[in-house]
Amino acid sequence: MDVSPFPYQGPLEPAQVRGRDDLILDLVERVTEHRVTALLGPRRYGKTSALRRVASDVIAAGVAVVWVDLYEVASTADVAARLDDSLARVPGRFADMAAKVAAAASIHLGVVSFELRSAGSSRPDPVLTAHHLLDVLTRTAANTPTVVFFDEFSSIAKVDGAAGLLRTRLQHHYQDLGIVFAGSEPSMMRTLFTEQAAPFYAQADLVEIGPLSSEDIVSLVVDGFADTERQAGPLPPHIAAFAAGHPQRSMQVADTAWRLVGRGEAATQATWEDTLERVRSATSDGNERLFSSLQDGEKTVLRAIAGGGSIFGTAARVLDLPTGTAQHARTSLVNRGHLARTAHGYAIVDPVFADWIRHRFPV
Ligand SMILES: Nc1ncnc2c1ncn2[C@@H]1O[C@H](COP(=O)(O)OP(=O)(O)O)[C@@H](O)[C@H]1O
Ligand SMILES: [Mg+2]
Repeated sequence: MDVSPFPYQGPLEPAQVRGRDDLILDLVERVTEHRVTALLGPRRYGKTSALRRVASDVIAAGVAVVWVDLYEVASTADVAARLDDSLARVPGRFADMAAKVAAAASIHLGVVSFELRSAGSSRPDPVLTAHHLLDVLTRTAANTPTVVFFDEFSSIAKVDGAAGLLRTRLQHHYQDLGIVFAGSEPSMMRTLFTEQAAPFYAQADLVEIGPLSSEDIVSLVVDGFADTERQAGPLPPHIAAFAAGHPQRSMQVADTAWRLVGRGEAATQATWEDTLERVRSATSDGNERLFSSLQDGEKTVLRAIAGGGSIFGTAARVLDLPTGTAQHARTSLVNRGHLARTAHGYAIVDPVFADWIRHRFPV
């Protein structure tokens, strides 16, 4: 059976990452020079994939990588368990040293989450444990080249005091290791690093991951088809135009099209029409649910923008939107990652959602 060359669920393997050369180079340089960096971008824009690639590049250069996934952390004990799990998974020289440093603090790497779940007086204190684990990280990093990635870092904001705890333990060691914080909730990430009251205020350079270029999308489609003995025919520019730089949607649409073309066959215009129909029907329930969960002002703003109009122009007047409401709704959509600022104003981040809105509410 053929395996699709267009995986679109979850992060990619390092070798599958397309384009992003400048970003990856920049990030490798940053972690090597120990410049603390926060990587921001919408969900499914390829942050984790790009960072995995950076990780594999620096591992190849002999650097130890600690990968901490903070997705939906709910408590300090949770943060401690994630740190422990991350530290325990690093192989090699780092592991030997970390085990020694940990033992000195009576910590057995890899079993902390088990201990934290135990009941009664033998349960370690989660805050103290997190402090010890961060010490293990920084002390080991002082002796062996190390980069730590905190993925889904914005989740840290849900746990009282956790960002402060991390900052306290890391701030004196910025020179000893490479650190990248990545997160999908644009407003939360910004708040974490740019608000004066936040523990990580001015502690990192912000780097944004942008859309994939049209050129990158075209070549990933052409190559994916060619590598599996198919011809993409007229598909590449259609996919690039439809996906508007969105990496995951590009891959999903390409995968849908690819499934319609047999080995040795070439895609046609009809393949594209069929693809579009399939993508639309596979996603319409989700789009409907998302749209109906929004506030009225937000719905109107999205309709105006999907229709190509300014939310303060004719489109808005037709849709009856007072300026204050429009501004408020737009800000809230940007904060939640549904809208993004572009060179020409604002755009809907998810092209499939934008397409659904245009079809559901023709102007
Ligand atoms: N550089 C890339 N080239 C091709 N597809 C990509 C790229 N980056 C991301 N994708 C697509 O987007 C999906 C989600 O990527 P992921 O790294 O998990 O995004 P994020 O971490 O920003 O949510 C991947 O499964 C893949 O289909
Ligand atoms: Mg991710």
